Amino acid sequence: MGSSKRQQELLSVERLKAAGRLASEIAHELNTPLGGILMYSHLLLDDIPEGDPCWENVVKINKLAHRCKMIVRGLLNFSKQEKLEMRPVDVNEILHSVIGFMEDHILFKRVSIQTHFDPALPRVPGDENKLEQLFVNLIVNAGESIEGIGTLTLRTAFSLDTNRVRIDCSDTGSGITEENVGRIFEPFFTTKKRGKGTGLGLSISHGIVEQHGGTITVESRRGHGSTFTIFLPVAKEDSTLMPDK
Ligand SMILES: Nc1ncnc2c1ncn2[C@@H]1O[C@H](COP(=O)(O)OP(=O)(O)OP(=O)(O)O)[C@@H](O)[C@H]1O
Ligand SMILES: [Mg+2]
Repeated sequence: MGSSKRQQELLSVERLKAAGRLASEIAHELNTPLGGILMYSHLLLDDIPEGDPCWENVVKINKLAHRCKMIVRGLLNFSKQEKLEMRPVDVNEILHSVIGFMEDHILFKRVSIQTHFDPALPRVPGDENKLEQLFVNLIVNAGESIEGIGTLTLRTAFSLDTNRVRIDCSDTGSGITEENVGRIFEPFFTTKKRGKGTGLGLSISHGIVEQHGGTITVESRRGHGSTFTIFLPVAKEDSTLMPDK
């Protein structure tokens, strides 16, 4: 456990940044020719009669080009350096609303969702939409790893000595192998079947936490589940014992 945590701490932020820049350049370069492939395959489909032996092949080209387009869109989303809309946000409230729209999802049909929210949690400077996206990514991953019956536990706490809010997202799912744990935040790393996941969920999440000046780490044991821990800094003016509620 200790070593896997260390591995996450050693994860090179610079490497992720470089990957983000490269991803964005590649996506921009691919976008135009891809648009051309889609357009010309559509034109061909208009010209070829449906019974023609070429028809099926052109349909395949068209479908595969659509799939590429989706990947490119994911890449552009991943590398977008949008400006955050920071304001004091209540993490408990955001988690509560995310659970509200996630709990009816088929993934959580037989999953018990437990919450242990610190009622005195101070607000953190954050972008509500981005934090929502971060929690959705973690919760979906948790649900996917449980794959049936299990428990998802969300916990928040305030650490006065470090002046940070702590969020734990734990699942009783499959866990992550020692071999993979150091790679899960890398863009495109996925253990899903081909064509299922983009492997961008956690790298986007890592970027969001970083933009908030926080940290994200994972502890996991194969067959026992995983806990993702996020620390977000509290604004100086909120650091008194009196949370601004
Ligand atoms: N809670 C979890 N339990 C077990 N493994 C996990 C968990 N969260 C992430 N992983 C592992 O990390 C990999 C990368 O996760 P990430 O969210 O980046 O991509 P993905 O879920 O595979 O694809 P996408 O998010 O595009 O659907 C997953 O494929 C899985 O192997
Ligand atoms: Mg995911």
